Amino acid sequence: MSGPLRVAVLGSTGSIGLQALYVAARFPERVRVVALAANRQGAVLAAQAMRLGVGRIALADETCAPEVTDLPPGCRCATGAAAVTELATLPDVDLVLNALVGAAGLRVSEAALRSGKVLALANKESLVVGGELLMPLAGGPVHAVTPTRLIPVDSEHSALFQCLLGEPADAVAKLWLTASGGPFRGRDRASLEGVTRAEALAHPRWTMGPKITIDSATLMNKGLEVIEAHYLFGVDFDDIRIVVHPQSTVHSMVEFADGSVKAHLGVTDMRVPIQYALSHPRRWSAPLPPVDFAALGRLEFEEPDWATFRCLGLALEAGRVGGTAPAALNGANEVAVAAFLDGRLPLTGIDRVVETVMERHDAEVVTSFEQLEDVDRWARARATLAIASA
Ligand SMILES: NC(=O)c1ccc[n+]([C@@H]2O[C@H](COP(=O)([O-])OP(=O)(O)OC[C@H]3O[C@@H](n4cnc5c(N)ncnc54)[C@H](OP(=O)(O)O)[C@@H]3O)[C@@H](O)[C@H]2O)c1
Repeated sequence: MSGPLRVAVLGSTGSIGLQALYVAARFPERVRVVALAANRQGAVLAAQAMRLGVGRIALADETCAPEVTDLPPGCRCATGAAAVTELATLPDVDLVLNALVGAAGLRVSEAALRSGKVLALANKESLVVGGELLMPLAGGPVHAVTPTRLIPVDSEHSALFQCLLGEPADAVAKLWLTASGGPFRGRDRASLEGVTRAEALAHPRWTMGPKITIDSATLMNKGLEVIEAHYLFGVDFDDIRIVVHPQSTVHSMVEFADGSVKAHLGVTDMRVPIQYALSHPRRWSAPLPPVDFAALGRLEFEEPDWATFRCLGLALEAGRVGGTAPAALNGANEVAVAAFLDGRLPLTGIDRVVETVMERHDAEVVTSFEQLEDVDRWARARATLAIASA
């Protein structure tokens, strides 16, 4: 490609979005940000547009439009979910970074793939909800398609993607997803009943948006990541393993048919996988300290505590059931996490709400994006009822 990569950063005001803008700013010759989107932070979005000279922005929540002032000359601002999705289809966009949070990202992923863009995917929920429909649009498992149409940004999946490069699909025996264990590793169920929002938001290794941080505290995040890996790489659930690795230095591993294991190691900094999604198949320099193995001393691995962190089992069960079950799980979880963050539900209430919704869900074969959105709405309504009656 001649000229810089033209990128739409959707979810630009969030944790991933801000780090993506940091990476883009380091490589002005190679990356040009041409579109930005957010949900409610109109003033921040407008300031980003001004700083980067962006021509198109969108704000999902129309009520926040008055915050959008002082745009660069010629910049167009639109509001509403459809306006956000439209940015993924613009003719002058080569790559869409989907950094929205939650199932709201589903249509962005669909639009980017349908319009032939490269999709750099941080928004794992789109694959959890719509993996069955999105992966055919991506042309199949990501490591089997050249040139790549979908590049994972999630650190574990970026690691797996990199371990799989150049390897035949039939040589893969297992994927090993590493998990830090979150802030409550080693705690038992009873001790989690009264944990506060602040305790749950204090992740030991990563600084992230609130929703994924709570998902990391309940280990739902790792369950969602197993479903994400299943769709991205076309690997059966029985061949995806989770191992708790508190140092978070090994980002994930692939075991091959001959017993060899390739691991991806590095510092815990999301700017690295974000940058790799932009530089692939090349690698650019990064201003980060390398892993100091002598200082690290040792790498530990242990089995997750399935009994305490019940979200993990619920997610795997939904993944195995398949069809619309992961969409229902995700919708229920989003509502339960929001209720915890608002102080309306204890942390241990999250898995109870998700379980209640899953017990009432009759999974169907996935037929359309509209059906998945219906299931998402249904799960949110059921979860809201379960929280109100808890
Ligand atoms: N943060 C990490 O380190 C990390 C690591 C791996 C994977 N991920 C995944 O990356 C995604 C983003 O995570 P995050 O931590 O960056 O979340 P975050 O900090 O909460 O940011 C979310 C971004 O999405 C925007 N947004 C939310 N709802 C939207 C909607 N309906 N339409 C348009 N924009 C919307 C937000 O805008 P406002 O600011 O206006 O609300 C914000 O820009 C998640 O799927 C997460 O699981 C994150």
